[in-house]
Amino acid sequence: MLKITTILAAAVAVVGHAHASTLRFQSLVEMFEGIPEVVQAQPEATETPKTYVQLKPADSIIVTDPREHIVIIHPTDKKKSKVIPAGFCGDIESLAGFYPIGDNKEYFYWVFPSLNDPANDPIIFWLSGGPGCSSGVALFMEQGPCTITKDGKSTVNNDWAWNRNATVVFMDQPAGVGFSSGPETARSETEIGRQMHTFVEDFLGSNENLRDNRLFIMGESYGGHYVPAVGAAIHRHNILRLGKHINLAGIAVGNGLTNGVVQVPEYLNFYKHNPLNKPLTSDDELAHMEKMAPECTRQIIQCQQTHDTDICEKSSNFCNGLFMAPIQKAGLNQYDVRKMSVGPMAYDMSPLTTFLNNKDNQAILGVDKTWEPCNMEVHQHFMHEWMLSFTPNVTMLLDADIPVMLYAGDMDFSVNYLGVKAFARSVPWVGQEDFLAAEDKPWIANDELAGFVRRVGPLSFVQVHNAGHMVPMDQPENSLNLIHAFMFGETE
Ligand SMILES: *[C@@H]1O[C@H](CO)[C@@H](O)[C@H](O)[C@H]1NC(C)=O
Ligand SMILES: *[C@@H]1O[C@H](CO)[C@@H](O)[C@H](O)[C@H]1NC(C)=O
Repeated sequence: MLKITTILAAAVAVVGHAHASTLRFQSLVEMFEGIPEVVQAQPEATETPKTYVQLKPADSIIVTDPREHIVIIHPTDKKKSKVIPAGFCGDIESLAGFYPIGDNKEYFYWVFPSLNDPANDPIIFWLSGGPGCSSGVALFMEQGPCTITKDGKSTVNNDWAWNRNATVVFMDQPAGVGFSSGPETARSETEIGRQMHTFVEDFLGSNENLRDNRLFIMGESYGGHYVPAVGAAIHRHNILRLGKHINLAGIAVGNGLTNGVVQVPEYLNFYKHNPLNKPLTSDDELAHMEKMAPECTRQIIQCQQTHDTDICEKSSNFCNGLFMAPIQKAGLNQYDVRKMSVGPMAYDMSPLTTFLNNKDNQAILGVDKTWEPCNMEVHQHFMHEWMLSFTPNVTMLLDADIPVMLYAGDMDFSVNYLGVKAFARSVPWVGQEDFLAAEDKPWIANDELAGFVRRVGPLSFVQVHNAGHMVPMDQPENSLNLIHAFMFGETE
């Protein structure tokens, strides 16, 4: 605790020194002022290849919150969403259900309407990473309306839930993850991008009243692959007029892995220079990693050039093995180097696991499956895509002036902020030169250094202080303010 406070003070001192003459702390409001708005709904394409069945009242499940009616129903499937009573997780009713994705696969989703103005507030589609981890982890441990008590028996409201001013949709994907069911055959982000895109289309198709609301795709970790892929798929759909316009207003990724070739070498730098201000391993280990690092980079480049499954899988095994070993040997939590690792998931996820496997709770949710935080078999199936680059997806969005926010808790090792920043700098787009030249502005909240923000037009990189991989878990208030600044260009 003491150490961390000292470092914070040191960081402020360094900043103060660097900009001694011009130092002026800006608020988040100022830093996100004039963030591009891409809200104008475009004229509808004359041909819509897809037709939605007209919902009959009997087919619809309506959230009985008097302020809003949200309906989700698949156009051809009669399976209905289930109303989850108020008090189960948060103060208002929510909706959960299964979305059929084809091949006998069904994705589990859970929708929390905005507490403020669901008819007009933005919609966030959240995708957790892993790959193979349930969005339930984010819901209950990060930004959902509730957390779980230690004994796993009940929920407690989260005051900083992201559904305060936005409708938030959590989704377990691909098949086999969380409560999602069906054959575990998913092997590629392209496939997931397509499926998520279809889900978004059907969500809007059955809620035409929400069509003009601003829509954000957000996620974390391996979501650095999924989120840009889904965002780019939606953008492509819009420009090619493949259906009704989807009001994509931006994407945000927390501690996301998007391009290994620029991010992976930063492990070495993080071992040496990190916010704890001490090397995380021995000189011998460092020397070994330094010696092997070029081989790792060579393998990643070869993977990105060939897209060969074996080469790519080999590169992720080699590089991850090389750089993770010292952290694991030291027993450190790879997601938060301030902590020691606990159990197979590094964090204690037993309260959540107990809660979600309780038969009564499962009955309320309309599910019947053993829930685990991450499905390691699904995880393995994606190893060959780990080192592929999703940079082109981000370029496409930025060049269309669609906001992209990359934020990173700076205590995370696994997808560390140095790598995320290196990635943000590496993306080719019309504003890249300005972004490279831009300064990192200190972000002060409650009189403390909350982090740094670098923003040029639609692209922002945010270093979040005193947060690990799961930023909203460690910095709930700051992360809500950040996400609001990003979505609204202002804080409350
Ligand atoms: C967020 O919701 C609160 C009410 O809960 C409201 O006062 C505030 O204006 C909303 N903020 C935005 C940016 O819509
Ligand atoms: C996203 O990037 C991947 C990898 O470069 C590419 O295969 C895919 O076509 C891109 N998606 C879109 C919609 O541009």
